[in-house]
Amino acid sequence: MAHILVVDDEKDIRLSLRGILEDEGFEVDEAESGEAALAYLEDRTPDLMLLDIWLTGVDGLEVLTRVREGAAPPPVIMISGHGNIETAVSAIKKGAFDFIEKPLSLEKVIVCVNKALEFNSIRRENIALRQRLTSSQVHQLTGQSDGVALLRGQIERVAPTDAWVLITGENGTGKEIVARMIHDSSKRGDRSLVAVNCAAIPEELIESELFGHEKGAFTGADSAQAGKFELADKGTLFLDEIGDMSLKTQAKILRILQEQKFERVGGRRTMSVDVRVIAATNKDLMDEIKEGRFREDLYYRLKVFPLTVPPLRERVEDIVLLIDEFVGRLTRMHGFKPLRFADSALAALTRYTWPGNVRELKNFVERMLIMHGGDEVRIEDLPDEFTRSVAGGESTAAGSIPAGVVDFKAARQEFEAAFLRRKLEECGGNITRLAESIGLERSYLYRKLKSYDIQ
Ligand SMILES: Nc1ncnc2c1ncn2[C@@H]1O[C@H](COP(=O)(O)OP(=O)(O)OP(=O)(O)O)[C@@H](O)[C@H]1O
Ligand SMILES: [Mg+2]
Repeated sequence: MAHILVVDDEKDIRLSLRGILEDEGFEVDEAESGEAALAYLEDRTPDLMLLDIWLTGVDGLEVLTRVREGAAPPPVIMISGHGNIETAVSAIKKGAFDFIEKPLSLEKVIVCVNKALEFNSIRRENIALRQRLTSSQVHQLTGQSDGVALLRGQIERVAPTDAWVLITGENGTGKEIVARMIHDSSKRGDRSLVAVNCAAIPEELIESELFGHEKGAFTGADSAQAGKFELADKGTLFLDEIGDMSLKTQAKILRILQEQKFERVGGRRTMSVDVRVIAATNKDLMDEIKEGRFREDLYYRLKVFPLTVPPLRERVEDIVLLIDEFVGRLTRMHGFKPLRFADSALAALTRYTWPGNVRELKNFVERMLIMHGGDEVRIEDLPDEFTRSVAGGESTAAGSIPAGVVDFKAARQEFEAAFLRRKLEECGGNITRLAESIGLERSYLYRKLKSYDIQ
């Protein structure tokens, strides 16, 4: 529910505004002076302000000016006394959303408040959309494998709930995309997703990075600065590489995550925030707990809704789709000449284990677009690592080819039969799975098996 700050030095006005706004379901805070309003605004940003123009001390126009200097200022509705229309107009020029005159018509207040909130949410949505359009990242999961379908379903279910999510998966599997998809389709989607890479921040800076600091808190702190928690208020905090955080930082984080309250480094004021946390790691946190490197209580706090992004080698059917997607995307973005991959090349790419997962695949496609002049990539055009896995298989199996086999064709048949027997066994006798895992078409594979009399 929207949060409204009412600034007026007349107690009666504050109370009557609080009454009608709370009846409408809004949360209301009050400030009785310009100074109190400015102090409040240092800690948090309301969704809307009702601001009296005439205040003793720091007056309404000055407060308005300061509010408008903020990074994402809330809409401000000025409250003007009799005969203050000129001042009210100058407030509009300074960026106030609208003004209402005393004596207050309650009906007018509600209409004006709703209009301002609606305007603000459209504006925020616009900004978020623009950010999404201009960012080079496309937050969408390409793939038709069961693993990706399952993941999409889970994302859809968890996104609107506000539950905390822990995403686990190997390097480059798409954890960050998943986090951004959850944020984008959540009710916080028009707010910011603030990402923190826990592995990249030196231990001594992490507190200031997360909680911010006051001016002079440490050498070099020339001005006060908001931390990631504050920046993520009402939005999502993405704690990436959470498994790489020191135990000391984990202890601090745990307290803040539980209370959603903290102090800036060198500050005494306690700040409250409302953040949804999505954490990600490529480590097995259960192992880390056993080794004493990760706090069990933090693990359970974060793991309200666990999601696992499967490695690419467990969803080989996505490889060709991903290649198409990246060729298309990079061609559009950088004007590369389109590139096709011959079936033999695709088969080899499907057999490769992709230890760097989708990121490795994306980089590979980019490399091929840059390096490859022609319009079709054949198997012999692929870098060594993609064909080595096949050659490796051959050489192990070659040891099992009887010494008497000297003819090339016979050797190949011996190898193929041994290879297919072993792989079929690995796939539990399931021909469809075998076809997928070795990158052969099912009917072709079926004929092969028959010709070698393998059942
Ligand atoms: N299913 C997918 N469809 C399209 N692009 C994807 C997919 N999965 C990953 N990518 C792309 O692959 C790259 C790596 O993804 P991402 O950064 O989300 O992985 P990660 O799991 O966070 O990796 P790391 O563990 O290294 O941080 C990104 O460029 C991302 O856009
Ligand atoms: Mg990542």
